Amino acid sequence: GHESDWRAANTIDYQTTFTEENGYELLFVDADNDHTAQMEAVRNFIQQEVDYIVICPVQEAGWEVVLEEAQDAGIPVIIADRTVSADPALYTTFLGTDTALEGETAGLWLAEYLDGAEANILVIEGSVGASAAIGRTNGFNKIAEQHEEWTILDSQSGDFTQAGGQQVMESYLKSYSDFNVLVCQNDNEAYGAMDAMDAAGVTYGVDGDVIIISFDATKEGLTRTLDGRINCNVECNPLQAAGVEDIIAKIIAGEEIPAV
Ligand code: AHR
Repeated sequence: GHESDWRAANTIDYQTTFTEENGYELLFVDADNDHTAQMEAVRNFIQQEVDYIVICPVQEAGWEVVLEEAQDAGIPVIIADRTVSADPALYTTFLGTDTALEGETAGLWLAEYLDGAEANILVIEGSVGASAAIGRTNGFNKIAEQHEEWTILDSQSGDFTQAGGQQVMESYLKSYSDFNVLVCQNDNEAYGAMDAMDAAGVTYGVDGDVIIISFDATKEGLTRTLDGRINCNVECNPLQAAGVEDIIAKIIAGEEIPAV
């Protein structure tokens, strides 16, 4: 897809790693955040009898049939970036970040920062059904459950996009005036939410009224964190192609590869 700056960095990483110069022919499809289009793309790769398929799954669920088709065709599938809910026996392995841990990290940071003070929290989630959104939500909620002084007022999807973040924030600003924490599940959503708060005259960041937590820590996200507009930014590293290349080298060498 191309929903976020993180995704753009992830895509460039694949395109600069799997080059002809490095001995690869890369067939790349941008599924545009569309689960059905992504499954069709995988089916197309199976028909073309490619050697390896790497999927960064838009959605966590619904992969069983197409993974079985790849397995029947004898094509190793590497699930990258986001997880799938399918049986790990249906694919070679998973390589990506632990998004539940990212959510927990955000929660633990907030607990330390607030030091027992009350929190009225709004959440802008990532794309519905994406493991990165599910993991970050579950991880953060796990910590929130341990804090009676925290209230999650609302949690809605901004689809991991800047426009989505802005739209959700505009609607939150109409309904809530008493929040002091905003959790955005990626940097682009945070930028959109900031635009909405700027327009509404709501202050945020280290010198403002609203604490902003974001995820990804892209270059722009870290810049905004260093200058105090974002209070906490949890890293999710988009540079994963070298790890995928390593897995392919192990498959070629006939080495055992752990499923996850
Ligand atoms: O799966 C990784 C997530 O997807 C990143 O946090 C987000 O920016 C991207 O769209």
